[in-house]
Amino acid sequence: MVKRVTTSAFKKMKKEKQKITMLTAYDYPTARMMDRIGIDAILVGDSLGMVVLGYDDTTMVTMEDMIHHSRAVSRGVERAMVVTDMPFLSYHMGTIESVRNAGRLVQQGGAQAVKMEGGQAIIEDVKAIIKAGIPVMGHLGLTPQSINTIGGYFIQGKTEEKAKEIIEDAKRLEDAGVFALVLECVPAELAEIISLQLTIPTIGIGAGNKCDGQVLVVHDMLQLYHKQSPKFVKSYAGLGAEMEKAFATYIEEVRQGIFPGDEHSFHMDAEQIDKLYGGQK
Ligand code: KIV
Repeated sequence: MVKRVTTSAFKKMKKEKQKITMLTAYDYPTARMMDRIGIDAILVGDSLGMVVLGYDDTTMVTMEDMIHHSRAVSRGVERAMVVTDMPFLSYHMGTIESVRNAGRLVQQGGAQAVKMEGGQAIIEDVKAIIKAGIPVMGHLGLTPQSINTIGGYFIQGKTEEKAKEIIEDAKRLEDAGVFALVLECVPAELAEIISLQLTIPTIGIGAGNKCDGQVLVVHDMLQLYHKQSPKFVKSYAGLGAEMEKAFATYIEEVRQGIFPGDEHSFHMDAEQIDKLYGGQK
């Protein structure tokens, strides 16, 4: 039996200055590969709305979408912590509804923790979910579910005033009991200050390298998504181009009658074939 990465392991890793690694995954084989290779946490992010479901943003992602993909990921994971995003509007209708939805992600989706975007405005929901025994990961800075109020995917917290708001929210979330905090698209200097002031680990994405861990969207880091990646993404492989090359070769080989070859075909005994031809062959 493999030992699961838990919230206590996150705490210990911060204390021992060991960087926490997290990637998004939305399906069984990808999650399985990441888990086998030793990732600490897998985020079933609502980014799936864009990179898997083809929406323009994350606001159309539903609880059913998150449960469906979370289940697939959970089936492929033995060791890593599976954290599932609470989708748009699933924690804004009162604490009872928030707890119910977080509970579904754990019970039906197999998640060990949930992630929620926002600070002050969602504190009561965060507390209620933690009280129900579900670990919560916070998410501040650029919060894509608020795209229609922010107006675009811009860097957040660049002025003293805005930076202080994020710092205050980070402290509120820590006090509320979140076990880790994602900082998305904020200046590296701000992420460093928050990481130094909090006892819980920070997980950065577009937040410099002073955070206690890092997360990336898997489709961005493997170049599997056709739209331009943000500046903070590093490409680790060009799998999109590799896949297109394979599809093109397949199409060509089928059209030319090269595939399937004899090694990919099954055969019958000559006697049986002869019977099929009514002994006429
Ligand atoms: O949905 C997601 O993939 C995320 C990451 C960008 C942190 O929230």
